[in-house]
Amino acid sequence: MEERVKRLREWIRPEVRSLQPYTPEPIGPGIRLDANESPFDMPKVLKEAIWEAFSTQTWNRYPDTECLAVRQAMAKQEKVEVNQILFGNGSDEIIRDLLVCYGGPGTKTVFPTPTFSMYRLLTIALGGTPVGIRLQEDWLLDMPAMMREINAENTRLVFISSPNNPTGNVFAVERILEIIRATDRLVVVDEAYRMFSNQSMVPYLPEFPNLAVLCTYSKAMSAAGVRIGYLLGHPDVVETLNRVRLPYNMDAFAQQVAITAIRNNDLWQKNARKIIQERERLSAALAKCSGVIVYPSQANFILVRVSEAERIKGQLAKNNIAVRGFSRTEGLGECLRITIGLPEENEACIKQFTAAVSAQKG
Ligand SMILES: Cc1ncc(COP(=O)(O)O)c(C=O)c1O
Repeated sequence: MEERVKRLREWIRPEVRSLQPYTPEPIGPGIRLDANESPFDMPKVLKEAIWEAFSTQTWNRYPDTECLAVRQAMAKQEKVEVNQILFGNGSDEIIRDLLVCYGGPGTKTVFPTPTFSMYRLLTIALGGTPVGIRLQEDWLLDMPAMMREINAENTRLVFISSPNNPTGNVFAVERILEIIRATDRLVVVDEAYRMFSNQSMVPYLPEFPNLAVLCTYSKAMSAAGVRIGYLLGHPDVVETLNRVRLPYNMDAFAQQVAITAIRNNDLWQKNARKIIQERERLSAALAKCSGVIVYPSQANFILVRVSEAERIKGQLAKNNIAVRGFSRTEGLGECLRITIGLPEENEACIKQFTAAVSAQKG
């Protein structure tokens, strides 16, 4: 038996051998400020409406693989054509499908770092080479390095998370446009946190066939537990992605949630405004702790630089508050990422964080 397990390990593709599973912080009781989810659950009336519609559908039949009703509703909201939209089982799945279509052995994927870890992980899993370009001071794009790498012979995809996870800042629209204009490679702007920011690249889609925008229901739209993401792009890119998308990747339940959420867009906007207000309050309060840097954020989280970050994270955990540490990420060893929670959760975080930082001096 052991021999066979050993043999199986030998057959793992070399790219996969070097990978580690994606492991979020263990889920425990208490205040979860570690995964950039919405602190607001989907309201009960919406859940009931979704459940009502879902429970009267046939479950023995496959769902609409084209996800047409949802795409039609989304096309109206985003002011694009239906054939410019592709839905996925979370935006992670779409990132993988982009790499299946355009990446693979011999290709490079370019992205600024630090950023969302899946661009690197999925590039490697599919046999490509990730090229991370370190952000400069104040998390600005290193434009000369970006320009060099986006047009390197084997580059096929460029990912730009804006607002960027985990730094929280947006990149100037003008800089992103410079990149898109300078290359014929596909530039994917990941706008997972768009609703907490004041900008979007969606209006530029008609101008640039090599621009795609990724969105998710997991952040502002209170549906991380359901897994819904979508891409807006040129119809040709959408058609290409459809060739590798698993049939029925949006199950009947996800489709019902997706369409109900679109009809209630005002609610997500309202929630986002509350989160922004709390973000500013939390940022100002933590910045009062001496020696702490709070980076400006346009997302639903903030990044703070504080000495002994791991100890402070542990101290918060002891008080039932989970935040995300980056002890293994280059350049972020002294940083913590704190998701904006409910007002009382943020209050508890301010109290415990302040206590942990002052304990350092004592
Ligand atoms: C920038 C960015 N893109 C995509 C995702 C993944 O979102 P989804 O839940 O839709 O897979 C995340 C999740 O944290 C993210 O931070």
